[in-house]
Amino acid sequence: MFRRLLAALVSATLIAALAACGSNEGSAQKAGVAMPTTTSDRWVKDGEAVQAQLEALGYDVTMLYAEDDVPTQVEQVGQLIDEGVELLIIGSVDGTALKAELDRAEAAGIPIIAYDRLIRDSGAVDYYATFDNFQVGVQQGTALLQGLGVLDAAGAPTNTNDTFNVEVFAGSPDDNNATVFYNGAMSILQPYFDNNTLNIPSGELAFDTVAIQAWSAETGGQRMASLLSGNSDTLDGVLSPYDGISRAIIDELKNVGYGTAAKPLPTVTGQDAELDSVKSIVAGEQDSTIYKDTRQLAEVAVLMGHQILQGQTPEVNDTASYDNGVKVIPSYLLSPLLVTADNYRAAVVETGYYTEDQLS
Ligand code: BGC
Repeated sequence: MFRRLLAALVSATLIAALAACGSNEGSAQKAGVAMPTTTSDRWVKDGEAVQAQLEALGYDVTMLYAEDDVPTQVEQVGQLIDEGVELLIIGSVDGTALKAELDRAEAAGIPIIAYDRLIRDSGAVDYYATFDNFQVGVQQGTALLQGLGVLDAAGAPTNTNDTFNVEVFAGSPDDNNATVFYNGAMSILQPYFDNNTLNIPSGELAFDTVAIQAWSAETGGQRMASLLSGNSDTLDGVLSPYDGISRAIIDELKNVGYGTAAKPLPTVTGQDAELDSVKSIVAGEQDSTIYKDTRQLAEVAVLMGHQILQGQTPEVNDTASYDNGVKVIPSYLLSPLLVTADNYRAAVVETGYYTEDQLS
């Protein structure tokens, strides 16, 4: 739907923009994009798609990456406002830290789109483009149980009497998504903790004890190493919230001897369908990931911003879930897709997200 709409808009608007350029060069509207980090390919792909799609609509784009540093992003958003952007698309680092700058943007009449991560504590945010984050967690929890054999491929309980040792990791506490993913996963896993099908050797399950600040792969790997050194029980599964952390967890597991026929790797989940993780899935190491097509997300966010500037009302499909502490932000939620060795080709190759060559 968005793709068709955008294609139509792109061609109509491009013709208009090109015509305008002939008579009035340099009149392109300025769009500012603030992104969290280049350390994960998902955000690099997001940035490229947002930039390309804004440029296709004739915008002059400034894109700034904050490398997961909160003060840097606050400063960058300020810089974009000072540059005179007419639209802000923001993938936040800390969803609560931007309030003062966003007040300034609002006073200057700049529409603000929260990109993938909810911007909290600010009434200045106009729209939110994201995936169904609760569903991401549901899919991660389901994938863990399927990998363990507690659920079958169709998602039905196998009624196993076995007990499985698992450890749980969550994302960054300053990213609203992290809690939503965790809650989604727990909605699936909790009954199996309660009936002791799942056992946690470390005993750590509360969000605060398992959250990894800044989604840092290094911190995630360190936590895995310390969990492994404190316990000799064989681990059967790890709920990991994001591919970068998943790969660090797998490295630590291999360091202590997992990954052989005698001691197979536990079922490790992930998120983002990052190239190295899809390769790991193909190699039989990481068990699953969640594919969130960044091209679609970029389309939604760009179209939202563009429509506001055109005096139109963007389409949303959720007006209840995302209360940012000041107001409920009208949102468009895209559907995430669970990817395993069984469906990776259809999911990420046939959709053109990666080429077969990239995966080999
Ligand atoms: C995104 C995830 C990503 C994580 C770490 C979250 O806000 O929704 O897709 O894995 O940040 O970058």
